[in-house]
Amino acid sequence: MRVYEGKAKRIVPLDEGKVIMEFKDDATAFNGGKKGEFKGKGSLNAQISAVLFRVLEERGVKTHFIGVAGDNRLIVERLRMYPLEVVVRNVVAGSLKKRLPLAEGTELAEPIVELYYKDDDLGDPMINRYHAKALGISEGEIDEMERIALKVNEILKEYFASRGVVLVDFKLEFGKNGRGEIVLGDEISPDTCRLWDARTKGSLDKDVFRFDRGDLMEAYGELYRRLVGDS
Ligand code: C5P
Repeated sequence: MRVYEGKAKRIVPLDEGKVIMEFKDDATAFNGGKKGEFKGKGSLNAQISAVLFRVLEERGVKTHFIGVAGDNRLIVERLRMYPLEVVVRNVVAGSLKKRLPLAEGTELAEPIVELYYKDDDLGDPMINRYHAKALGISEGEIDEMERIALKVNEILKEYFASRGVVLVDFKLEFGKNGRGEIVLGDEISPDTCRLWDARTKGSLDKDVFRFDRGDLMEAYGELYRRLVGDS
């Protein structure tokens, strides 16, 4: 049985077109340039992803999520993944500051969608639709991923806001299922989203690790409590 191991997750095949997605406690940033390990991070990310996938499914977004299979494990539909990262931004932060002359924290009038090619050796470069086409990904497929990404943004922006959290930006990955549908895959967690406390603007995400902004597990734990607590 082939087990795929990435930087933050392990994928173990199950039968009937399903796989187990096991979340690790490892943390990496800056394309593997910074490494750490945080006991319990895998469990929190798995549980947070499960909460968010359920929210999306309830609102009509097709995701690979099937169920929870333990503290740090989710059962998901097996997908053929696109080698793309689709980033959606609502507020200026992170790498957008290197691209546009806008200050951190500036609210964008409309969300920005960006495509990146997933390749460690190339450093996950930003690409456009022409590059995607050269990789064999059609305009129609990109349109569909963008449509879903913007819908996810609308749903999660409101959901986080109701819990006192600003959805600054996030990264999604997509794949095709056995029926040829484009489906949301991977994870949605504080490892893959930028989330700020609405009041203090403090980070409740991986920026705590990237920029040594305090206790990562405290931030992830606080986010989890906000999501599962009564709103
Ligand atoms: O670094 P940048 O500002 O481009 O990141 C935008 C968003 O995408 C952030 O929420 C970040 O956590 C996420 N991201 C990710 N995986 C990457 C690159 C970015 O989850 N490889």
